[in-house]
Amino acid sequence: MTLSFTLTRNERLAEVSTREAVLTDPGFGKHFTDHMVSIDWTIDEGWHGHRVEAYGPLQMDPASAVLHYGQEIFEGMKAYRRADGSVWTFRPDQNARRMQRSAERLALPQLPEADFVEAVRQLVQIDEAWVPSGGENSLYLRPFMIANEVFLGVRAAQTVRFMVIASPAGPYFAGGVRPVSIWLSREYNRAGRGGTGAAKCGGNYAASLLPTQQAVANGCAQVLFLNEEGTDLEELGGMNVVLVRSDGTLITPDSDSILDGVTRNSLLQLAEDAGHRVERRPVTLAEWRDGVADGTVTEAFACGTAAVLTPIAALKSPEETIGDPDAPAGPVALALRKQLTDIQYGRAEDPHGWMVQL
Ligand code: COI
Repeated sequence: MTLSFTLTRNERLAEVSTREAVLTDPGFGKHFTDHMVSIDWTIDEGWHGHRVEAYGPLQMDPASAVLHYGQEIFEGMKAYRRADGSVWTFRPDQNARRMQRSAERLALPQLPEADFVEAVRQLVQIDEAWVPSGGENSLYLRPFMIANEVFLGVRAAQTVRFMVIASPAGPYFAGGVRPVSIWLSREYNRAGRGGTGAAKCGGNYAASLLPTQQAVANGCAQVLFLNEEGTDLEELGGMNVVLVRSDGTLITPDSDSILDGVTRNSLLQLAEDAGHRVERRPVTLAEWRDGVADGTVTEAFACGTAAVLTPIAALKSPEETIGDPDAPAGPVALALRKQLTDIQYGRAEDPHGWMVQL
């Protein structure tokens, strides 16, 4: 990967002060670092042209397939700065493999795991100064793949680009770890059987936007989708859901139309390590409702890379509110959140070897 880049002293000073201002209050997804990684693929040449370039707009032909048929997939990861200044990421192999599974579903080429991890490493190393320190700030990494073949026929593109961009990030939800209320979508589904629900593709998120607007209009932070029958929990607009029972059991939907969350898998592993029972199985809405009513469901939380673990205080719909919107965060959710973030920020041992230094 090559880069040739020179700045005058004044340009460098201006750049540093902009960066420092951003890093004190990064928000989420609003600011981007100085560079981006690209790797091209064509049906004849395979993956080639690995490079790190200055961050900037892409020139795209208006007939590029992704603009018409949404042949696109992405990942979400983070780089964390530890107290000693070192920078680490979390289970990049899992994101690389999930992207390969998403690629298969979206008829995109599979990027080798080593190329995926190296692309992330190159970007973080060159833009290391953009990794925030302090609090729960991190550098959010967004690997993605687009069909950039100029062709309007509906078939798998023969020209594709993989890219990684990076964005300094604070908490995904404005209130940080404060419990949120979630809106139950009865009108819309996120995905159906045999659809793209398990793939991390832009279309799934596009489908969640209108229901999310309804959630926000009803004072909620996110939307929860049910299965096609309207009986079982699936996932939220952009994260998985877990319930906690009074006997300490964690239950989470097992469905082939939801995302196989790296954060969820890791939290459930930590819960099992701590002696909790974990059940991955269909979870009905009735079970949540009845469990809250009789005290056997004591906590609920959302989890994902961006949101980490966010407690759910209540599930709202026009017909009912399950839970108490003013309820404080539950102890199991808080303990798991602390354990995971302590590993990520190097404050606790990493018993599973999840962290990778960049
Ligand atoms: C992530 O958690 O990284 C995601 O991709 C979800 C998105 C809502 C930010």
